[in-house]
Amino acid sequence: MKILILGYKGMLGHELVKEFENSHELILWDRDQIDISRKEDTIKKVSDLCPDLVINAAAYTAVDEVEHNKDLAYKVNSCAVGFLATACKEIDALFVHFSTDYVFDGENHNGYKEDHSYNPINIYGKSKALGEKMILDISSKYYIIRTSWLFGKHGKNFIETMLRLDKEKKDIKVVNDQFGSPTYAKDLAVAVKKLVESQNPYGIYHITNFGTCNWYDFALKIFEFSGLKPNIKPVASEEFPTPAKRPTYSMLVNTKLPPMRKWEEALKDYLVETGRINF
Ligand SMILES: NC(=O)c1ccc[n+]([C@@H]2O[C@H](COP(=O)([O-])OP(=O)(O)OC[C@H]3O[C@@H](n4cnc5c(N)ncnc54)[C@H](OP(=O)(O)O)[C@@H]3O)[C@@H](O)[C@H]2O)c1
Repeated sequence: MKILILGYKGMLGHELVKEFENSHELILWDRDQIDISRKEDTIKKVSDLCPDLVINAAAYTAVDEVEHNKDLAYKVNSCAVGFLATACKEIDALFVHFSTDYVFDGENHNGYKEDHSYNPINIYGKSKALGEKMILDISSKYYIIRTSWLFGKHGKNFIETMLRLDKEKKDIKVVNDQFGSPTYAKDLAVAVKKLVESQNPYGIYHITNFGTCNWYDFALKIFEFSGLKPNIKPVASEEFPTPAKRPTYSMLVNTKLPPMRKWEEALKDYLVETGRINF
């Protein structure tokens, strides 16, 4: 297949390139090649290129910053997704797009299935939900892949923050009242490749590493696997007020695909691959 990957310089984009590059023809675009929020330019460029598959890993992902930059969030996470869906429809390309657990309100202790209704509680979640709706309105040939709590080698992530705090701080406080599924971007990229090469029906999919934890549990595992023993304390979210409100329970229930490996195994793998531990 001729595949266009958008946002290839991002955390997930990097892993998608690694996963697809040996078996497909790739065209890689990021902000230097295209601003996906520019309608005519985006539709023309993508249509002219005429790929079989467009994978959109480009997004405005700074959840707190977005609260003060609403217009840009809707441009990149909503309108641009509509432009890409339109281009894909014109050339009959398959469209793969990524979304988030933040399209839900986090009130449901049992998590959210693929067909649960949207109720985002912050601007990022609202802009991503609107992006999904654009695809549902325009496309019939798409995979919307919702994921959560991504970590990967190419980007800021929670694991790196904890390892840095261990060096900088005497006491580390981590919230224990937000629950979700940490997901290794590399594992997600593997699952995306399997999905696009499968005969699975088009639609919405939930892909995360298996299992659930809160941020404090996640931090404990990071330190345990890394052989570190910082002074770590669980705290409530109120102790860390952020511009964007976060959902409390944002587990994505996967009813359509085989489960991925546990998040703890993925974490260990990440620590090995980044040279923190030997196994
Ligand atoms: N990270 C998470 O925890 C998480 C969780 C759930 C879902 N997701 C979703 O997963 C996908 C990938 O996330 P990620 O964390 O890998 O993202 P990321 O690291 O922030 O990468 C996004 C890429 O898109 C580029 N980009 C932004 N605006 C653009 C525009 N207007 N035109 C062209 N390129 C643009 C960015 O360039 P600049 O760096 O120059 O802005 C960056 O290279 C996103 O759809 C995100 O919503 C992420």
